[in-house]
Amino acid sequence: MVRSTSIAAAAASFALCAHAGSFYSKNSPVLQLNGMDYDRVIAKSNYTSIVEFYAPWCGHCQNLKPAYENAAKSLAGIAKVAAVNCDEEINKPFCGQMGVQGFPTLKIVRPGKKPGKPTVEDYQGPRNAKGIAEAVKDKIPNTVKRITDKNLGEWLQENAEAPKAILFSDKGAISATLRTVAIDFAGLIPIAQIRSNQQEAVQKYGISKFPALILIPGDGKDPITFDGEVKKDAIVDFLSQAATPNPDCPPPKGKKSKKDSKKDGKKDGKKASKSSSSVKPTDASPVPAASESVEEPIKPSESPDANLKDEDTPEPVVIPTEEAKPTIPVVSETAELQISCLNDKSLTCILALLPKEETSEAAVAVTDSLASIHKKHGDKLFPFIGVPASNPLASSIRTELALGGEDAVHLIATHGKRAWYKKYPGSTFGPLEVEQWVDAIRMGEGKKEKLPESLIAQQQSEAKEEKVAEEEPIKINIADIPVEEPKKDHDEL
Ligand SMILES: *[C@@H]1O[C@H](CO)[C@@H](O)[C@H](O)[C@H]1NC(C)=O
Repeated sequence: MVRSTSIAAAAASFALCAHAGSFYSKNSPVLQLNGMDYDRVIAKSNYTSIVEFYAPWCGHCQNLKPAYENAAKSLAGIAKVAAVNCDEEINKPFCGQMGVQGFPTLKIVRPGKKPGKPTVEDYQGPRNAKGIAEAVKDKIPNTVKRITDKNLGEWLQENAEAPKAILFSDKGAISATLRTVAIDFAGLIPIAQIRSNQQEAVQKYGISKFPALILIPGDGKDPITFDGEVKKDAIVDFLSQAATPNPDCPPPKGKKSKKDSKKDGKKDGKKASKSSSSVKPTDASPVPAASESVEEPIKPSESPDANLKDEDTPEPVVIPTEEAKPTIPVVSETAELQISCLNDKSLTCILALLPKEETSEAAVAVTDSLASIHKKHGDKLFPFIGVPASNPLASSIRTELALGGEDAVHLIATHGKRAWYKKYPGSTFGPLEVEQWVDAIRMGEGKKEKLPESLIAQQQSEAKEEKVAEEEPIKINIADIPVEEPKKDHDEL
């Protein structure tokens, strides 16, 4: 197994440094994240985030990319826009944990009641920048207090000494920018919004145009009026004269906890952990400042034509819907299956034993999963074959391998030449879990069991294919079943 271990190690270390030239470029406003950073950068953040789970080969992911990057630009400083490549080995368990079933999957993550226990919801809205940005902004919690003439005095009395800020606005709604500012200064500077029609308050502070932001420094000092550009960064700078904003997420630890024990992840982590007033996705990228004014609802800077067409046709979030749905061959003849996979010369094959009810959930899932893996790898990988219940060999396989009834789906890898098979251990057949298993087979991992000789047809000579193609299953006695040679499973790598 030495060899497979080193291959696995090489693959893993490649995955670790593969970010750079990958799907989202280094300068993308989208924060490339791996599973190990998620906890700190997203789950423990005070900010609301959207996370895309994607695979670089997925067509819908490619289509989404420009819209997603535009959403990231318009949310800069307000919410985090991140992406996790579920195709990387290192992220697969994480993507599985997050319940990712297809690509792309978008999840909005916002702080929950308990720190570090965020609320996670799937985003099912339109796949355009505007739809995404609006949905994320909607989820940003509000701690800005709406104040009127009536209760202004009372509000000012609470923590009389502490600094406070008030936005005077002719609107009632509290913008995402102000909500985010309030999160930055939570526990430090209480923030209120007062409508322009509250005359006493307006007069008290001598406000003559709206919006107007004032900082009441506390300690009886005179209020200071903000006269900068009404944008997130400028507002945070202004308020910073009274208090230093909260970090948006915990700093990267020098030493990782057990859970995050693998090294790496640091690079992205550091980038992501900018702890100041803004959540610019990377240090390297000069991301435009948040474009939202405090007053106006944002118009995300969408590229003029790219995404509008998606508006009213939300795309399904399941992999195999693009173009014609990819499928795998379904082999219903005994002989054909023997020729493809079950003879004494055949190498690794993946066989999905399908139930009588071919439209059952598991049957569809296993077929779709294999099809998407096949689509990704093309014919470089082993054959993936669906074996319907109507194939006479199917029931022999079920019986011989003690797989049980005809209504269950089973996934097995077979190797006719070496007379082994390996069973898929799971009972569900999502694309990620199936792909992990297929990868394990590729690496020569997984428990081998002896493939009964009665299931292996003998190909005496090359000319036999014609013969084999006859109706009857061929029963053969194999004189010597090859002894298992665990080391050499890489014939098809
Ligand atoms: C989050 O907000 C709280 C106040 O609500 C603050 O104490 C904390 O420092 C902020 N940052 C993190 C990473 O929790």
